[in-house]
Amino acid sequence: MIKSFLYLPFWFVKTRIFGKKSPLQTVIFISDQCNLQCKHCCVYAQKIIKKKSYEQIKEELEYSYKLGSRFVDFEGGEPTMWKDGEHDLNSLIRLAKAIGFFSTTVTTNAVMPFSGLEADSIWVSLDGLGKYHDRVRGEGVFDKLVKNIETSGHPDLSVNMVVSKLNYESVDETIEFVKNNPYIKLISINFLTPYPGTEDLMLDWDKRREIIDKVIAYKKQGYPIMNSVSGLKKMKDNNFKKYCWVSNFIAVDGTKSPDCGGTALGLCDQCGYCMAGEMNSVMNLAPDTVIAGLKLRL
Ligand SMILES: C[S@@+](CC[C@H](N)C(=O)[O-])C[C@H]1O[C@@H](n2cnc3c(N)ncnc32)[C@H](O)[C@@H]1O
Ligand code: SF4
Repeated sequence: MIKSFLYLPFWFVKTRIFGKKSPLQTVIFISDQCNLQCKHCCVYAQKIIKKKSYEQIKEELEYSYKLGSRFVDFEGGEPTMWKDGEHDLNSLIRLAKAIGFFSTTVTTNAVMPFSGLEADSIWVSLDGLGKYHDRVRGEGVFDKLVKNIETSGHPDLSVNMVVSKLNYESVDETIEFVKNNPYIKLISINFLTPYPGTEDLMLDWDKRREIIDKVIAYKKQGYPIMNSVSGLKKMKDNNFKKYCWVSNFIAVDGTKSPDCGGTALGLCDQCGYCMAGEMNSVMNLAPDTVIAGLKLRL
């Protein structure tokens, strides 16, 4: 924690004052193998599965560390399914720590039990309650998620909701559910980014703004929402400077990029990832976002 506390201002001065585009966080896609086929997703393998080796991920972690990154998120596909010989996801988490990363995160669909996962924090994808989550992710998936969250025993577990035409009606009850669930710390609200094949599921902008206003009102009432008010306001029209190079991305085919896949597809104006708004607010030193970011990182 002390290391992060000292590193964050150093990183800010390096990037914001001296203009060096150095990532703080790395997102590594370790495989596109998945046990679901969510309607809003185009990441999972349709036919031939791509899975990185332990050695390749080691090289990618070392590369990212040298760039200046100190936080890593293991993504997929479903990262908890990853294995290479005797190595599993915990081997990658330990490896990242040994290289020097301050903290590791795993994003999971929570279909399989994940107690014993050694990541510092876990983000579970929760796309609404009951039938709404299942509408996006498949029959029976919500019940498994609730059970696996309860039994995980992880002290730092939050959920990530992607709002689309399929589940926007469930936003209120999902926020309420998170507030009342003792195993969940925070909820992060995102909107669907229209990757090819998912365009029809994107909400119209008026509905998006209406939902953002509602989320801001919950946040002001003290609900456990990760998004900052400043970041949420920016997501209302997406008309702000993007600082997505704050994370570097390493795709499942090994492509190393300073931006997420959406940039190459020209999707920045329609981006739904809340981190885009949060990053802009951090770079402009919006006090509420800086405090939210520090809470998350420390
Ligand atoms: C690709 S998944 C990989 C991790 C894991 N399989 C899971 O579902 O949590 C990572 C996150 O991306 C989100 N996601 C997938 N497609 C998206 C889209 N079109 N727009 C925004 N987020 C999306 C998922 O809901 C999930 O929270
Ligand atoms: S579980 Fe994750 S990777 Fe798999 S299809 Fe759903 S969102 Fe995509």
